[in-house]
Amino acid sequence: MSDTVAVILAAGQGKRMRSRQPKVLHRVAGRCLLEHVLAATREAGIKNSVIVIGHGAAEVKAALGPEQTYAWQEEQLGTGHALAQARQAAGGAESILVLCGDTPLIRPATIASLVKEHQATGAVATVLTACLDDPAGYGRIIRDEQGRVRAIVEERDAAPAERAINEINTGIYCFTASFLWPALAQLRPDNNQGEYYLTDVIALAVNQGLAVQALACDDPEEILGVNDRVQLAAAGAILRRRINTTLMLAGITIVDPASTYIDASVTIGPDTTIYPGTFLEGHTIIGANCSLGPGTTVRDSQVGDGSELIHAVVLASTVGPGCHIGPYAYLRPGTVLEAGVKVGDFVEVKASRIGRGSKVPHLTYLGDTTVGAGVNVGAGTITCNYDGRQKWPTTIEDGAFIGSNANLVAPVRVGAGALVGAGSTITRDVPAGALALARGRQVNLPRRGKKDDAERQEKG
Ligand code: UD1
Ligand code: CA
Repeated sequence: MSDTVAVILAAGQGKRMRSRQPKVLHRVAGRCLLEHVLAATREAGIKNSVIVIGHGAAEVKAALGPEQTYAWQEEQLGTGHALAQARQAAGGAESILVLCGDTPLIRPATIASLVKEHQATGAVATVLTACLDDPAGYGRIIRDEQGRVRAIVEERDAAPAERAINEINTGIYCFTASFLWPALAQLRPDNNQGEYYLTDVIALAVNQGLAVQALACDDPEEILGVNDRVQLAAAGAILRRRINTTLMLAGITIVDPASTYIDASVTIGPDTTIYPGTFLEGHTIIGANCSLGPGTTVRDSQVGDGSELIHAVVLASTVGPGCHIGPYAYLRPGTVLEAGVKVGDFVEVKASRIGRGSKVPHLTYLGDTTVGAGVNVGAGTITCNYDGRQKWPTTIEDGAFIGSNANLVAPVRVGAGALVGAGSTITRDVPAGALALARGRQVNLPRRGKKDDAERQEKG
């Protein structure tokens, strides 16, 4: 479809969102609205896209990146005016596919069939329509007795009989360039909103005796436009349901899809089970036969086959196969767990590597730490990695055993097979195989207070 350019209208403020952020940058299922539309366009095989920006243009550009083609609409004078701004950037393309940046549910297959239909029929304009039980807020499709499309009327400009029509304009069209560009120049803002309506080009074509076609979209869900936060939530729910359905059909068990939040960018291996309240976000790869949740967040991380995470938060980390994480564990960015590691309850790990089969079962903080294989870190162990100015590393070599409630004051190294006594504050390196004790020696004294009490009771 190299003769086709997609123009995505995204210059409006989105007043009904009541947001300081441009509407098209609001996010659902891990992407902003505009990115969903762009992705669908790309997946439909359309390589060239122009994004019309205006309100919040700098923010939109920053979010989408400099590799996109942008057109600039200085004043938001309406959808027709917005499209006219893309003329130069669209170059000499024959077919102009128009989409709105606020319709994130449109499917690639629908876009492809619209373009195909347009090019097959020779119409100058082909509009994607849908029949809705509640058409409120959308432009209505006006047809004549023969069923031919005559015009699109915006709800605000519609007569009561026109408002009763339930076939609506999805805001997605394909136009023939040689008709479109001159037609846009003829638009007049003589309507309720005083805007240059793109929808008016349909009546212009009809008046010129040119063919206009409509293609009905079977799934009305696809065309939901997001104008306010209620619709934002509705679109999010539909996107999540689609993602979850695809995953379930691919062999992943999702115990309660309605309370499971997975971004489109996440991949998951078969026979993994996901419990409610789980969020899988960003560039995350989950292996096969895992068990995630309940109440688990994994963002921009990898989890190996057969690992189990319960009430865990994992950010920008790598969890090897066969690991057990949680409940209530927090893996912060830069954490790498090798195979078969256990990170148990109330443990925080940051920028650390933990070797094969090592265990950090409870109440521990490991920061900037390298832990070898087969290490046991006792309950309440803290790496004191920060001196108030700088972070320092800790190394615990293979087979070491750290007793409960130890403080390891970094920089420090505990050698292979060494034993650190419970309650020790370790400030110097421990040689391999050594026993390190760094705590006050216990003394047992008679309980003075107790003796006095007993004498007093005897006298009294
Ligand atoms: C528009 C259509 C309506 C259709 C609906 C489908 C018009 C006049 N109306 O209405 O028939 O049913 O979409 O969702 O076209 N935009 C600009 N510059 C502007 C104005 C808008 O770029 O000056 C962009 C917006 O950012 C948005 C898109 O165009 O992405 C649609 O604008 P919006 O105001 O949401 O139009 P609707 O009222 O929804
Ligand atoms: Ca809209």
